[in-house]
Amino acid sequence: MSSEHKKHYIVQPGGKLQGELRVPGDKSISHRSIMLGSLAEGVTEVSGFLEGDDALATLAAFRAMGVQIEGPKEGRVTIHGVGMHGLKASDKDIYLGNSGTSIRLLSGLLAGQDFTSTLIGDKSLSGRPMRRVTDPLAMMGAEIDSDEGKLPLKIKAGNKLTGITYTLPMASAQVKSCILLAGMYAKGKTTVTEPAPTRDHTERMLTGMGYAVEVNGDTVTIEGGGKLTATSIDVPADISSATFFMVGAAIAVGSDITLTHVGINPTRIGVINILRLMGADISLSNEALTGGEPVADIRVRYAPLKGIKIPEDQVPLAIDEFPALFVAAACAEGTTTLTGAEELRVKESDRIQAMADGLQILGIDAQSTADGIIITGGVIGSGEVESHDDHRIAMSFAIAGLQAGGTIQINNCANVATSFPDFIGLATKAGLDIEEFNV
Ligand code: S3P
Repeated sequence: MSSEHKKHYIVQPGGKLQGELRVPGDKSISHRSIMLGSLAEGVTEVSGFLEGDDALATLAAFRAMGVQIEGPKEGRVTIHGVGMHGLKASDKDIYLGNSGTSIRLLSGLLAGQDFTSTLIGDKSLSGRPMRRVTDPLAMMGAEIDSDEGKLPLKIKAGNKLTGITYTLPMASAQVKSCILLAGMYAKGKTTVTEPAPTRDHTERMLTGMGYAVEVNGDTVTIEGGGKLTATSIDVPADISSATFFMVGAAIAVGSDITLTHVGINPTRIGVINILRLMGADISLSNEALTGGEPVADIRVRYAPLKGIKIPEDQVPLAIDEFPALFVAAACAEGTTTLTGAEELRVKESDRIQAMADGLQILGIDAQSTADGIIITGGVIGSGEVESHDDHRIAMSFAIAGLQAGGTIQINNCANVATSFPDFIGLATKAGLDIEEFNV
């Protein structure tokens, strides 16, 4: 897949971001549209689908399990649902590339099937922790072999699942969703309590497709044996992808950019809250609800930023946005401190270390801690940094170029295609001087 060939970025310093842009579809919602659309009765029409490698890996997995799926074509996908018990065994191992969401959600869903599945992925995914899903699934009665909690995962056929009451050890929407999806196939009720609110797209989409989910404060309950009804799903633009432009406009003098039709689900807007605390000028317009998800146009105009202590309650709400927020912190006046974010160490890369190392190369005082980072704002210089094959690290250092004193080279950026196809095209249109080259 995308990481087989090497792609580096070169960003020339300076510039500002301007205009109106629509970034690609939300990754989390795109995954879930394929999964739930496949299990529904009837035909689900999806628009705004993210045609990135991660969501395409989920799509390919369901095709391999016998679901007829047309597209994607210009963000449109048509899924001919097979019903809750209509999936068939894939005739080969299911390759999920770089995608943690695919593998963790699929694990729950496949634990309830009457066929065995083997899930594999790329180097990054193969190193990520899976006990967080295999442990609760085992409590439900699933039988899953792993390599000491790592891939491959072999999910055995025909184990009858029973509902559990489970408190998540970490704030993770992937683990919550995994258990809820298994809960659809379990006897009785499954209840998940989360230590802090995490993205609730699974709950919203289940409800939208007629599967009852009871939400009570920090607890979600689902009862096995229900069914899903096909619907149309309009996937909003991904706030995680919009983040690179929001931060870019917040740090580059003279910027004024509007990101249209962006998902502003309250469980995803930590980036807006944190940037505003830092002094960013952000305004929302055209607020609407589409398919159970709130959307808005987000306008960001340059304003000087100041360092802050990031409130810990914002961490799960901005979990994917920290690499870009660290660039904002590097351009802010004073010190920014992040704590309570140890989950960043087990993402597509160790995002705390990857960003601390890269920012230091660029001349910024960035000190990693066990669960966060301390960044003192300064002058971004030039240099060659590593993305560690992590899409969000690559794009974060790309926007740092707007405030850099010289050229930044970012190595191994092919995985940007997992979440943001044509990042280069949109970033160039907005005003970033960026080129890619293959090695
Ligand atoms: C996601 C949940 C988050 C997030 C990931 C997408 C999801 O992961 O980082 O990019 O779609 O449920 P965790 O559950 O590991 O926090």
